[in-house]
Amino acid sequence: MKPFLSIDNLTQRFPDGTGGELTVFENASFGVEKGEFVVILGHSGCGKSTIMNILAGLAEPTSGVVTMDGYEVRGPSLDRGVVFQNYSLLPWLSTLKNVTFGVAARHPEWSRAEVAAHATKFLAMVGLEGDVIHRKPSQLSGGMRQRVSIARAFANHPKLLLLDEPFGALDALTRGTIQDELLKIWGQMEQTVFMITHDIDEAILLADRILLMTNGPFARVAESVEITIPRPRNRTEIIEHPNYYAIRNHLVQFLGKRSKEMSGQPTEAGKTNRPVPVRIDKSEPADDPEDRRPALSAVNG
Ligand SMILES: Nc1ncnc2c1ncn2[C@@H]1O[C@H](COP(=O)(O)OP(=O)(O)OP(=O)(O)O)[C@@H](O)[C@H]1O
Ligand SMILES: [Mg+2]
Repeated sequence: MKPFLSIDNLTQRFPDGTGGELTVFENASFGVEKGEFVVILGHSGCGKSTIMNILAGLAEPTSGVVTMDGYEVRGPSLDRGVVFQNYSLLPWLSTLKNVTFGVAARHPEWSRAEVAAHATKFLAMVGLEGDVIHRKPSQLSGGMRQRVSIARAFANHPKLLLLDEPFGALDALTRGTIQDELLKIWGQMEQTVFMITHDIDEAILLADRILLMTNGPFARVAESVEITIPRPRNRTEIIEHPNYYAIRNHLVQFLGKRSKEMSGQPTEAGKTNRPVPVRIDKSEPADDPEDRRPALSAVNG
């Protein structure tokens, strides 16, 4: 059975500006299950946004197929919500109307009052209540605008939520608060999320699985690291979990070293690039009692 979201042999090439060709990635294949929170980590320029734009239906790959819920992705749709790094709100609409806009499009059968109540509920979930929801985006702080765009995305309850570094522009404190809010909302509804971030700790806090991408060109989605830390998670307690630093070290190692060593190799003709599943769990007994390293499965398999 195919996963809910299936990416099969995705290849993206661009003209490199000097008459040649840039291969961003080749024959990349991976899946995302329904309700899963998947985060993709990789260095700048490896092709994360390119993948996300293809998943959103905003860009067409050179070759390969994306299917969601059994249908091929062929263009943008209300089924896939996107939050961009620059939280593109409509400046001429109030905060509330920025949210009702999409809700009304998705639920044409709802009355205006129902649409407003639904939007108000999601704004309250991200801490925006009262008069503030009648202000225009220009009258809000950056963090508040970010929260509006998150409320808008969740209020539409798309089948797939795509987040491209949604907290990139925020200070650490606001970022932490919004991460907590995002986790809370995500815990309350079955929402499949695919998110890009540069922040390792944010990735561990939020993800069920982290996809690790090597540097481009010819970038690979090389590993799929399971986050073996139970939910609900919170930022202060998660670091106490025995798996936290083992997972974190693995990710740091990958980004610091292996992402470079593994890059730049064209794929053999006809070969599919699938991420290797990695499971790190210190609470599992190792086969060899002398072996005190974290249990690593199939790292190079
Ligand atoms: N429309 C385009 N035409 C030509 N090259 C492009 C185009 N879009 C992206 N690229 C190139 O593809 C590569 C991947 O870009 P992409 O934006 O996907 O990277 P990214 O992983 O999202 O990086 P960042 O973390 O900096 O956002 C880069 O080398 C970029 O220059
Ligand atoms: Mg990007």
